[in-house]
Amino acid sequence: MSNNDLSEDGFSLVILSKVDPERPLPTDIYLKVDKKFIKFKSKGDTIESEKYELFIAKGVKNIYIPADEIMTFLEWINQSNEEEETTFVDQFGEENRGFFNRSKDFKEKVYDVYFEEELNDEIVDALQSNVKEFVEEIKENPITAQAIALMLSKNSTVADHSINVANLAVYIAMVLGHGHQFVLENIYMGSIFHDYGKLKIDPKILENQANRMYSHAIQEHPLTGVKMMRKTQGIPTQVLTIIQQHHEQFNGHGYPKGLAGDEIYELSQIVSMANVFDNVLVENKQLPAHERTRKAIKVIELDNGKMWNPKYIDRVVEALSIAFHSRKKAA
Ligand SMILES: [Fe+2]
Repeated sequence: MSNNDLSEDGFSLVILSKVDPERPLPTDIYLKVDKKFIKFKSKGDTIESEKYELFIAKGVKNIYIPADEIMTFLEWINQSNEEEETTFVDQFGEENRGFFNRSKDFKEKVYDVYFEEELNDEIVDALQSNVKEFVEEIKENPITAQAIALMLSKNSTVADHSINVANLAVYIAMVLGHGHQFVLENIYMGSIFHDYGKLKIDPKILENQANRMYSHAIQEHPLTGVKMMRKTQGIPTQVLTIIQQHHEQFNGHGYPKGLAGDEIYELSQIVSMANVFDNVLVENKQLPAHERTRKAIKVIELDNGKMWNPKYIDRVVEALSIAFHSRKKAA
């Protein structure tokens, strides 16, 4: 994809993924809607993270800056990057500077793929290599590395499941148009910790579904997980929301709150799909791999608005079918 129309009608184009949300803007910024430039934010305003995620999910790729202020804006981007890098290195040490820079490059590289309308083998391959690259990078992130080590030390079954869910949720998120590093990081972390609350449940209760305490403990595990995570500083609210809502259902019959429709955060729905998918695979261990995946894809395909917003289903089913079909061919 080219960015050769960098200047038009007195405006300069800036790729949205280069801009960090939640920082006071150095100039006014504009969006292009139906070939018209509409002022979106004034100098000194910030783009809220949630709005930023929404834009990315909706495929808004560019913002526009008045051409005579573009240098000020680009300098601000550089300065924000430097500040962010310094803060990161102060917190995680010089040895992790490379990680920071690779994450930044990655963000822009993956971004281009999301705007393809139709999925095919080639796009799915590109997405999957992006997932692989993202997961390899994020595992090097000291926070994630600690999180995974903690989960593995407490319960390796829950940890294995959580890692599978995390990888799959990142793929589904990319397929649905989420490209920004921090959105993907939230999905990854939310997935890693989605069942964290289960670690508090006495294993004797967890093993025996007939136990009276079982269903109460299960109903509570999303909130228990959030309570446990709150003790760790710096966990983004989005991650807590994913943990809390990963068993909520689109039709309102989920738990713990019985939220319905748009009350459920989109990223929670993504993790929920990945969670159910992996559970079907685990429950059907006796079947050959391709039958298991076919079963799991069917569960999503036939959901019909029960667990998930139907608007995600076609694209996710297509993406899973191509991904697992290709894998089968390669095997
Ligand atoms: Fe769960």
